[in-house]
Amino acid sequence: MARSRTMKTITVTGGAGFVGGHLVEALLRRGYRVVCLDLFTYAGSLDHLAAAREVFSHRTVDRLLRPQTLRDPSVRLIVMRCDINDTATLAQVLAQCDGCMALAAETHVDFSYHAPGTFVRANVNGVHSVLEAMRTAAPGKRLLHVSTDEVYGEVLHGFSPESAAIHPRNVYSATKACGDLLIGIYTKVFDLDVVTVRPCNLFGPRQQPKDLIPKTFAHLLHGKPMTIHGDGRHVREYLFVRDAVNFMIEVFERGRRGEIYNLSSHEFKSTLDVVRSIARSLGLRPTDVMTFVEDRPNADRRYAGDNTKIKKLLGRRWKLTPFAEALTEMRDDFVLRRPEPML
Ligand SMILES: NC(=O)c1ccc[n+]([C@@H]2O[C@H](COP(=O)([O-])OP(=O)(O)OC[C@H]3O[C@@H](n4cnc5c(N)ncnc54)[C@H](O)[C@@H]3O)[C@@H](O)[C@H]2O)c1
Repeated sequence: MARSRTMKTITVTGGAGFVGGHLVEALLRRGYRVVCLDLFTYAGSLDHLAAAREVFSHRTVDRLLRPQTLRDPSVRLIVMRCDINDTATLAQVLAQCDGCMALAAETHVDFSYHAPGTFVRANVNGVHSVLEAMRTAAPGKRLLHVSTDEVYGEVLHGFSPESAAIHPRNVYSATKACGDLLIGIYTKVFDLDVVTVRPCNLFGPRQQPKDLIPKTFAHLLHGKPMTIHGDGRHVREYLFVRDAVNFMIEVFERGRRGEIYNLSSHEFKSTLDVVRSIARSLGLRPTDVMTFVEDRPNADRRYAGDNTKIKKLLGRRWKLTPFAEALTEMRDDFVLRRPEPML
């Protein structure tokens, strides 16, 4: 999709989530208008859009606006409560926009064991609904689908290129993989203009305390020990959320139609590395704040995506915020907000 000087309007699904909030802000700063569609589940919050709403003209609605409002250039951000499974409403919005970046999903691996059906509904039926809305109401417009590196499953050695077979090993990643399969088929059969990204673990300010980094901050700031599952040597790649959303926009603007791009930082950290760094950043002794328990069933030891393709696309724009610098920014945000640990 070529970048043009006219102000384009992009639909962002899941825009009130952690990554979505950062993406909406980055799009607005780059001169786009944004229609943020979100169901506002436990994971969605206007707080994630606070920075964007402070700077840019916005309107919040709980039902479909008239088409002229969707196109009103004086309103830069429209936030609308909408389930991505509501294909009719989605289609009406997409018909008025220039493209869609699809992030809406159920995302917490632990929750996926308690309510698998919720994950199927959001991550499989929801992707199908987005594809149907694009196919019927927005043919020829670009869709960015946000997947995850977890679809490759455990990668004990080396790196998964985008061409690798997918082997998801938990409910969350299985539903994301189903979404990816639908994306692949629709792209070919209906000739849709879709690009996909598969990010590694993202972290940053305003993140809910459900993933390892924000969960550790929340626990330690509330004087609670951090539970380490198994030996704590599970390894993940970590990417700062602001870098990730910039890469998503680059792929949306310049990625090759039908292609998948791993957003992998190669910044590998074990659970122990992460918890130790956070404890030290808060002036605590790591050994005082860790409690070891049995490992989770099916816990993947390592994820690792090959990032050759995204680096080639970005060239000199491939720049990563150093892990320590990003963690310090996150610590300051958590010290200020002190979010409660989640169940
Ligand atoms: N955070 C990460 O580390 C990470 C890593 C790789 C991939 N991803 C992917 O990035 C995307 C965003 O992740 P996140 O961390 O911001 O998730 P999040 O859980 O913080 O936000 C998800 C958002 O989707 C919304 N949502 C859920 N179901 C919906 C539905 N049916 N209709 C409309 N909105 C709905 C929620 O209200 C929430 O605002 C997801 O697709 C996720 O799989 C995230």
